Amino acid sequence: MSDEAKTASSAVPDEDCKDCTRREFFAKLGIGSLIVAGAGTGLFSYEYFSPNVLFEASPIIRAGKPDQFPANTVTLDPQNGIYLVNGPKGFYALGAVCTHLGCLTAWKPELDLIACPCHGSRFNKDGVKVAGPAPQPLPRLKVWLSEEGYLMVDRSSPLKEQEFVKV
Ligand code: FES
Repeated sequence: MSDEAKTASSAVPDEDCKDCTRREFFAKLGIGSLIVAGAGTGLFSYEYFSPNVLFEASPIIRAGKPDQFPANTVTLDPQNGIYLVNGPKGFYALGAVCTHLGCLTAWKPELDLIACPCHGSRFNKDGVKVAGPAPQPLPRLKVWLSEEGYLMVDRSSPLKEQEFVKV
């Protein structure tokens, strides 16, 4: 077999590698495979070594200015799952998630109660259970007035005693 015939039979017909020999083609294929494997290993290593942290919104929320809450009202903030109550002793906050199975409760002004739509638990304005299967009262949350004049609520720290913010 002539040299030309050998070269022609070992060349791989490829658009990008028209004049490549079989050896050059496999060398390029091998390098490409190593690059892909290296990139995959790097990506999985990064995922493995990066901290497994769940990023959540801050538990501290800015509920609003005190004048947004008229006297003797219970205001539900469904986004944040809290009630802000402007009572005779001042402002206080309650968690709005039912302590039975976690449904979002609703303020019923006609009953003067907070009611859970799921299994019928009812709570008074102080969060104390008055009916239904809920095992605990609604949690009382820390409230304070920020320097900018906003009512702030910390959803992460239920209180043992109810605290009021006088404005
Ligand atoms: S979730 Fe509220 S009573 Fe069951």
